Amino acid sequence: MEEITVNLLVNGSRITARVPPDLTLLTFLREHLRLTGTKNGCAQGHCGACTVILDGEATHSCLIKMSRMHGRAVQTIEGLAQGGRLHPLQQAFVDLGAVQCGFCTPGMIMAAKALLDRQPSPSTEEIKRAIARNLCRCTGYSKIIQSIKAAAEILNREDYAGPVRLRRTPTGHVVGISVARKDALPKVMGEAKYADDIHLEGMLHGKVLWSAYPHAEILDVDASEAERTAGVRAVLTARDVPGVNKIGMLIRDQPAIADKKVRFIGDPVAVVFADDLKTAEVALEKIKVTYKELEGVFSAERASEPEAPLVHESGNLMKHCTVERGNIAEGFAQSDVIIEQSYSTPFVEHAYLETEAGVAAPTADGGVAIWIGTQSPFSDRDQLADALGLTKDKVRVVQLPMGGAFGAKEEISIHFFLALGALRTGRAVKMVLTRQESLRMHPKRHRFKMYYKIGATKDGQLLAIQAKIIADTGAYASLGYDVIEQATVFATGPYYWPNVRLDGYSYYTNNIVAGAMRGFGVPQVTFAVESQLDALARALGIDPFAFRERNALAVGLPISTGQVLEGSVGMKETLARVKSTLQSMPLPTPRPGWKLGIGLASGFKNVGLGLGNEDKAGAIVELLSDGHFRIRVGCADMGQGSATIMGQIAAEVLGAGFETIEVITGDTHLTPEGGPTTASRQSYFSGNAVLRASQTLRERISALVAAECGLHQDQVIIQNNAIKDTQSGRVLLSTTDLAALAASKGILLSAEHCFVGRQTRGLCGPAEGGLDRLNKEEAPYNYVAFSFATQAAIVEVDEDSGEVNVLKMIAAHDVGKALNPLNVEGQIDGGCVMGLGFALYEEFKIEKGFNLTNTLAKCRIPTSLQAPEIIPIIVEDKEPSGPFGAKGTAEMAALPTAGAIANAIYDAVGVRLTDLPATKDKIRQALRARRGY
Ligand code: FES
Repeated sequence: MEEITVNLLVNGSRITARVPPDLTLLTFLREHLRLTGTKNGCAQGHCGACTVILDGEATHSCLIKMSRMHGRAVQTIEGLAQGGRLHPLQQAFVDLGAVQCGFCTPGMIMAAKALLDRQPSPSTEEIKRAIARNLCRCTGYSKIIQSIKAAAEILNREDYAGPVRLRRTPTGHVVGISVARKDALPKVMGEAKYADDIHLEGMLHGKVLWSAYPHAEILDVDASEAERTAGVRAVLTARDVPGVNKIGMLIRDQPAIADKKVRFIGDPVAVVFADDLKTAEVALEKIKVTYKELEGVFSAERASEPEAPLVHESGNLMKHCTVERGNIAEGFAQSDVIIEQSYSTPFVEHAYLETEAGVAAPTADGGVAIWIGTQSPFSDRDQLADALGLTKDKVRVVQLPMGGAFGAKEEISIHFFLALGALRTGRAVKMVLTRQESLRMHPKRHRFKMYYKIGATKDGQLLAIQAKIIADTGAYASLGYDVIEQATVFATGPYYWPNVRLDGYSYYTNNIVAGAMRGFGVPQVTFAVESQLDALARALGIDPFAFRERNALAVGLPISTGQVLEGSVGMKETLARVKSTLQSMPLPTPRPGWKLGIGLASGFKNVGLGLGNEDKAGAIVELLSDGHFRIRVGCADMGQGSATIMGQIAAEVLGAGFETIEVITGDTHLTPEGGPTTASRQSYFSGNAVLRASQTLRERISALVAAECGLHQDQVIIQNNAIKDTQSGRVLLSTTDLAALAASKGILLSAEHCFVGRQTRGLCGPAEGGLDRLNKEEAPYNYVAFSFATQAAIVEVDEDSGEVNVLKMIAAHDVGKALNPLNVEGQIDGGCVMGLGFALYEEFKIEKGFNLTNTLAKCRIPTSLQAPEIIPIIVEDKEPSGPFGAKGTAEMAALPTAGAIANAIYDAVGVRLTDLPATKDKIRQALRARRGY
């Protein structure tokens, strides 16, 4: 296509460019001007990550063609800070916790800037409307709205002279303080480098040919024509896999590149690397694959039938686990009231704003390095080494800033293609999945069918629970092997039941793989059991708070498996705090024709992997020659703020200034192993490792200085990067002098600690003779700690249309100790809104193996317009084994929301939705059925 000349202003600079007329403004900014602060989340105008200000209007730059840009003015995030000073919006986003993964941040700030330019004092509703086309999957919008309001106030001051810090980092204690995140500044500046922002000279671009069928034999792959295409440097098929062609974090049942068979539409059949993306796409079309289509299996029910086609030769049942305690038959016989009900929840998409993206390059030692957003750099490395036929030391995985993950970036995605592409071509390579590719290939939250039967005495004592959970794990195990275990264990909710029988089944199908997603199987069962409890409390006429209070887990009581709780159990306090908050505030008035409802739900979740999995994390803390401390930890920060937390712990123990501490995370060549960032485990495991390594280093420093100065060791402390004599208060030396002193003596001032959690035990390890035998014999120890939460939802429901508006969420979460309260609140806010999407809107639809949900818009994740006011309440029941008493937060945040909303809908209009999402149509139908028409 003939190029055109376009003159435009970009951030005040005049630009003249020769470009194809159909080039998008987004691509022009990112690829031609290298202004990578503007992000690409979908390229379809659905996410708003690409928002810029075009002639004064917030605009999705992915929708604007360069043919329309002549003579126009664009402002991007890079043009916002002036003279080295942040715009008040940027400062407020940093200080008030509006930044998590940061992928939405530049676009969100630009949308807010356009609003404040035309409306200097916007109302909350006006702010919500202005950012409604900008999705954020992390924050729940609450702190974003607060930040926009705060920035407006600052800009409106008569004596406005620039941004104002709204929160300063303290010089004393930092644990328990809401310090600003270490990565927030580059994110609000548009300077954080995500994988797609990396450009290496001469790098190749990769594209994947995905399976055309959900279930088929591959008879032949003919790539000869593609290989002959000018500019193509490599076409990779299963024949090119040098090592073991199997990947999988827990079970290696998934081919790195499909060989004889495809089992879902996200199986890769071939990968092309070419000089540019266009050439790679053209070559992909030339690959001829001959398939023999096979009958598919598209539900767990069908998979369980004896004559169903086999997805894997080993059979369609991936896992069956059981928990049994007491005597279930006697429990029901003694019950005055029994409630039985079935529930179902759909596949759910993570909808992180950054799709899978990475860069790789060969290394001088014959190995390969890859830079990618990942939750599990060390597991990635191990799997890659095996598939590449390399030793582990030849594979380096470096975690980059990640635009969200929520569980789906625990597993290998494009890692192997990148690594093999770099090795085969000897060149740097890059790959970025389109939103459509991302949706079809990465694991989803499992679809569950659940059958519940519960019984209680007439005065409200829970006696018996029986549940059967059936999960569709898709074509490969992914993390589904553990998901079904957690779902089974936590199917009881946070209550004491003397008689328990729980069965979890997970089946292979030819659907898109299901794996880890925030909550790991527990959001589904929490919705079901909390709906059951609500129905039971109503049947007995008992107040829902009193009912839960009476049966709540507490120290000394066992969970479903028989593990007796010890340490931190803040369940009852979460109930009390929600109750008192609810009682202390006026209830909103519903609109005419709408009914108000209040619903309650609680939940609990393990901290750490538990169930017999080895669980450990390492940390290295060191003093560098310039006098600042550096921490190296293997954990991955996917937006939840773990790097900041690690810095806080080290600063507190070492007496160092928080802002001077450097934190390196997730680099298999630089950091010790940290295990996967999952199961809300990093604050506890990596936090404990940092704590202990810092304590050791502090001891070494005080011993060295004491010997040098002729003091007793106890007399020496570190305070704000200075070594002091506690008795005289005299500064003995600075940390820079200390580093020089140590160097002169040949002493390395560093400490390493590997924190290993207390050994836990699984439910039904094959070597143990199976199932629940051990559970019956003794009280097992399955998990190191648990987090607890209670949430109340206040909703209004339109009695005619069935529409639900969640007005307010009150969310009390026991996190042990909030190391950074602002971070904890951010997790609670984000979790509540993710839970709201699960409750009312989100369903990843798959029909005969193909995803009907094939755009981000169709995922229906909540926008700012649907996000309610959230009142986060932090409960601190300290966990003795946690660092400063901390447990974990992230997963717990999303657990009780769906149950609370479903119970609120019942409270409002008397219909109980048992099949999520509780859409407007389903509620309307239920209302009509109840009315008899
Ligand atoms: Fe908004 Fe992650 S911070 S999408």
